[in-house]
Amino acid sequence: MNDEKGCVWIYPLIYVLLLMKVEGLYVDITYVQSAVAKGAVCLDGSPPAYHLSPGFGSGVNNWLIHMEGGGWCNNITTCLSRKRTRLGSSKQMLKKLPFSGILSSEPGCNPDFYNWNRVKVRYCDGSSFTGDVERVDPSTNLHHRGERVWTAVMEDLLAKGMNTAQNALLSGCSAGGLTSMLHCDNFHSLLPIGARVKCLSDAGYFINVKDIAGEDHIRAFFHDVVTTHGSAKNLPSPCTSNLEPSLCFFPQYTARLIQTPLFILNAAYDSWQIKNILAPGVADPHGSWHACKLGIENCSSSQLEMMQGFRNEFLAALTEVGNSTSSGLFINSCYIHCQSERQETWFRADSPVLENTPIAKAVGNWFYDRSPFQTIDCPYPCDTSCQHIPEPKSEA
Ligand SMILES: *[C@@H]1O[C@H](CO)[C@@H](O)[C@H](O)[C@H]1NC(C)=O
Ligand SMILES: *[C@@H]1O[C@H](CO)[C@@H](O)[C@H](O)[C@H]1NC(C)=O
Ligand SMILES: *[C@@H]1O[C@H](CO)[C@@H](O)[C@H](O)[C@H]1NC(C)=O
Repeated sequence: MNDEKGCVWIYPLIYVLLLMKVEGLYVDITYVQSAVAKGAVCLDGSPPAYHLSPGFGSGVNNWLIHMEGGGWCNNITTCLSRKRTRLGSSKQMLKKLPFSGILSSEPGCNPDFYNWNRVKVRYCDGSSFTGDVERVDPSTNLHHRGERVWTAVMEDLLAKGMNTAQNALLSGCSAGGLTSMLHCDNFHSLLPIGARVKCLSDAGYFINVKDIAGEDHIRAFFHDVVTTHGSAKNLPSPCTSNLEPSLCFFPQYTARLIQTPLFILNAAYDSWQIKNILAPGVADPHGSWHACKLGIENCSSSQLEMMQGFRNEFLAALTEVGNSTSSGLFINSCYIHCQSERQETWFRADSPVLENTPIAKAVGNWFYDRSPFQTIDCPYPCDTSCQHIPEPKSEA
């Protein structure tokens, strides 16, 4: 049996076997207790956390750091509600998480990264790891310390062997995909000279466009995020010195500044962006987008036209990534948000392809410089390999 075909052909069998031995799928949490003394804490003051599955065989010196997503909190009210959840407190996090897709330890499910040290860094600051406010208001006990969490977690991982990495990939999905772009060059600077270091952003290319009511909804939201968390000083300074600083939270104003090779994986009709940027609830008081948001096949022709307009703006914003072959692009025309963590979209017989190449192969070939990959799909509904998965409802 060819290993690479394992996930593709005997996936159902593997799945049954794994259900019988479910422990193997799950990876334990590690709390970074030493971070607390540095004030590098979750919204509620609890220690940050990650899950580490150690590398083996030829992968022992390779590190995949995958940043968890989960939207942002943009003011005291929303940060206070988040503080009571796993996205604001490590006390609320599950102690074991399943590793699949890019995190899988099965060669047949994850051909290029399966035997690396694989880390899922938990997200509990609500600012894509950019916040740093010294003062803690005793009446709320809210800590806005995402940037310190980033630094403390990286220090901990470097001490666990990442300081001698030969290959390293910083990845993440949604708010975590934005994190991987915003911290890409810093990540590179922490690793040994000579290491191959790259970054992958999955569903993290949030764009600055008006909503269907003509309002700058997402721009106002990101402005509030950056203000609430004191993030501006941690955004790229060549951007913040030229633009209104909170705009620098949008990849389209900072992507060109990133020196480290970057791969953008994103659906052109990203379901979170359609629901929360193009047609947020406030812009659709009568709920005429409700059915469309639940499934792209329910969209009316005028809604589809607006979604094609969104795709055009998305592709225009994407030109800021540049076309050097060190950049990778996998932009498919699916209605989905995040494709690297789910096995069915990352690497399986029926997973999405562009030019007959599944996402895992496109990313692996780009990472190892076997072949560049920069492909933008034809517009919806031309792509029959799509998995249209509208979830999640609100988390990014
Ligand atoms: C906080 O943000 C939420 C979500 O954008 C909004 O609905 C709410 O009105 C804001 N609250 C305050 C106090 O600004
Ligand atoms: C929209 O599409 C989804 C997915 O196919 C389906 O489950 C749902 O029932 C549809 N909703 C409406 C209101 O048509
Ligand atoms: C890539 O960028 C260069 C420099 O900006 C430009 O001259 C060239 O036409 C671009 N190529 C493509 C295929 O877009």
